[in-house]
Amino acid sequence: MRARMKSLLLGATILACSAASHALADEQEIVLKDAPGRDIVEANCSACHSLDFIQMNSPFQDERGWQAYVNKMVTIMGAPIEEEDQKAIIAYLAANYGR
Ligand code: HEC
Repeated sequence: MRARMKSLLLGATILACSAASHALADEQEIVLKDAPGRDIVEANCSACHSLDFIQMNSPFQDERGWQAYVNKMVTIMGAPIEEEDQKAIIAYLAANYGR
């Protein structure tokens, strides 16, 4: 019974918030293409900036370009991304956001 009350309350709160910030959320919500590796990209590449950086750059990048970017994010910007995840990210970006 208590749990039910709580989830009702939570639902109401979410509704209220989404109504208030609807316009903003519409513009900022970036949904990347659904493909293997997307979770890893979303988890690692949205910490410092919006994922629209990826969309904006996709017409210009190929696999080597993405490799360079991911490398730059890690070495220069200090993104803490495991080597294995970096590979998965590059593969995802090259396949889905390559030119
Ligand atoms: C530790 C913070 C951080 C993380 C995590 C991060 N970035 Fe960035 N990224 C930055 C900063 C800061 C800039 C803007 C600086 C600049 O203009 O060079 C940037 C800029 C970019 C740009 C724009 C091109 C450029 O160099 O200006 C792209 C594309 C990009 N990031 C892709 C990624 C991808 C892909 C990931 C995930 C692998 C990622 N970023 C994760 C900090 C980060």
